[in-house]
Amino acid sequence: MRTDLLTRLAALAQQREQAGLRRRLHTVTRADGMWVERDGRRLLSFCSNDYLGLAQHPSLIDALKRAADENGVGSGSAHLISGHRSAHAALEEALAAWTGRERALLFSTGYMANLGVMQALLQRDDLCAQDKLNHACLLDGAQLAGCELKRYPHADVEGAARQLRTRPDAAALLATDGVFSMDGDIAPLGELAALCHRENATFMVDDAHGLGVLGAHGEGSVSAAGLSQHDVPVLMATLGKALGCSGAFVAGSASLIDGLVQAARTYIYTTAMPPALAAATLAAVRLAQSETWRRDQLQALIARFRAGAAQLGLPLMPSSTAIQPLLLGDAQAALAASETLQQQGFLVTAIRPPTVPPGKARLRITLSAAHQEGQVDRLLEALSRLPAVGPV
Ligand SMILES: Cc1ncc(COP(=O)(O)O)c(C=O)c1O
Repeated sequence: MRTDLLTRLAALAQQREQAGLRRRLHTVTRADGMWVERDGRRLLSFCSNDYLGLAQHPSLIDALKRAADENGVGSGSAHLISGHRSAHAALEEALAAWTGRERALLFSTGYMANLGVMQALLQRDDLCAQDKLNHACLLDGAQLAGCELKRYPHADVEGAARQLRTRPDAAALLATDGVFSMDGDIAPLGELAALCHRENATFMVDDAHGLGVLGAHGEGSVSAAGLSQHDVPVLMATLGKALGCSGAFVAGSASLIDGLVQAARTYIYTTAMPPALAAATLAAVRLAQSETWRRDQLQALIARFRAGAAQLGLPLMPSSTAIQPLLLGDAQAALAASETLQQQGFLVTAIRPPTVPPGKARLRITLSAAHQEGQVDRLLEALSRLPAVGPV
């Protein structure tokens, strides 16, 4: 007899429940800066990726409203049909200039950007080397492309080199997160770029968590590492994190972008993002470039949080970015810690396998320029009282 797919899916959910890994959806009924209302409770969020505090900025809201008045809401079709509007073109130009690339191409989400790039660049006989802790969509992209995917140990340049050398004649892409989404550390970008030069591999960086946050004007982790388009020919970043909007882009040479327009299925066969969203994102780019104080404030809060955590003996991970995970190990312990924090007015979600490796469940604490010093201090105090969090 055939397996019933829905029954099998329900059994999987049940297994996840028993292992303390069930995912639950909660509705936020109101958002006000870093404050959210959820399940009837007002909570101070330390788990948003709105690192610069731009998501509710009046300039973004104004730009969105004005563009919606002029253009309506939906773009009406894919970019290549009639969906590509001047707001998209202006945003692409600004993103290319900001990241020091010849051109940029918008995608509706980061997930789609990574799937599209991998599927356009890679073929069956090719090799794709990736950091073990890369975001799920980079891994999925390589699988969709059907190439050989090899995952090297986290941030291990020698490990990456060994993998590339297993097939010296294969066309190869090496892809890494710039800032690792669940750990917050920065990839060894300079060394990886040098390796790619030596091995004739194409280097791709997903800078979802670096854009806006790193670099003198927020250009991201690649520019902060002193690398150019020549060193990192494929740069991808998202618009839904530090820029406070939604969507993503790929930036690089004119020929890369033209190639993606020809071949990236997640670009070709989907509706273009609403032009008003592109207009709001352009306003966010301008603010992220010019309001250096947001990065300064964020850095000051990161330093304060780390110093306080060290004093309290909290088991922080080695991260200098806005992502400051507290490793708890056990999934149930991470859930219980998150629940205790909620009772004290903080929203910090537990991140559990398979999003992180087994035994590496954690509280993924994120800081934002919209937080205040006193709020960080109060969070530290609450963390120090958690039963699961012993000193290191
Ligand atoms: C490193 C990384 N890449 C890509 C994505 C996907 O981006 P999006 O949310 O725009 O699909 C995320 C998170 O969402 C991410 O953390």
